[in-house]
Amino acid sequence: MNLKSFVKENPMIKKLVLSILFRRRPYQSKVRWFVWCLFIFPKYFRRGISWRSRLDLVPFNKFSLGSYSRIEDGVVINNGMGDVMIEDEVHTGIGCVLIGPITLHKHVGLSQYVRILGMHHGIGPDKPHHHHPSTKAPVILEEDVFVGTGTVIMGKKNGEPLVLGKYCRIGANSVVMTDIPPYSVAVGNPAKVVRIWNATLNKWVKPASNKPIL
Ligand SMILES: CC(C)(COP(=O)(O)OP(=O)(O)OC[C@H]1O[C@@H](n2cnc3c(N)ncnc32)[C@H](O)[C@@H]1OP(=O)(O)O)[C@@H](O)C(=O)NCCC(=O)NCCS
Repeated sequence: MNLKSFVKENPMIKKLVLSILFRRRPYQSKVRWFVWCLFIFPKYFRRGISWRSRLDLVPFNKFSLGSYSRIEDGVVINNGMGDVMIEDEVHTGIGCVLIGPITLHKHVGLSQYVRILGMHHGIGPDKPHHHHPSTKAPVILEEDVFVGTGTVIMGKKNGEPLVLGKYCRIGANSVVMTDIPPYSVAVGNPAKVVRIWNATLNKWVKPASNKPIL
């Protein structure tokens, strides 16, 4: 058993560790200054990470950034709920918000103000939303996915990974809540597939049915 699972399985110890790591309400989702100095500040010296980005990172989950990847000004990265894994040559545009668990495979491109949400709050009316436990909703963007500006990608409420397939393109201002197949163009709210890459014709074609698929 490693240290992380030992702490997780002992509620008293878990409570103590969390109270050492995190600030008190109303800033309880942010780590204390010494944790920030030790674990977050050094990351700003990493090539590709803007000093104007905001890294809300916790030491017990992973954050990785591949070679030649870029975290732009105003980007927020939060790994409190799960790992944020970014492979090589990934670009995140100005103002993106990435809440883990998220995996961005190589060559993924996020335009400006894309929001990827790897968690959900409960929404029952019995108590305030932030008193509900949060649940993980992992999001995976496969190789060379391009996401248009302003798009929101929400993980699945059942906790299964939401996958945007290799080489798919998502239109500006879309809301993606379901898997998107590889080699397709999807647009709108909720996002629907409107084009599929035809390798024989070497061009994008409309889906076989007149209705958008998915
Ligand atoms: C999705 C996108 C890549 C598709 O481009 P394309 O392959 O040239 O496709 P088309 O313009 O032929 O559009 C295909 C269909 O989707 C529709 N569509 C395209 N983009 C859309 C969008 N963002 N929202 C809603 N519908 C859209 C088109 O009207 C068209 O509908 P039709 O089949 O009824 O004619 C492009 O429209 C887009 O949104 N790009 C994002 C731009 C961006 O964010 N740039 C920032 C760069 S940093």
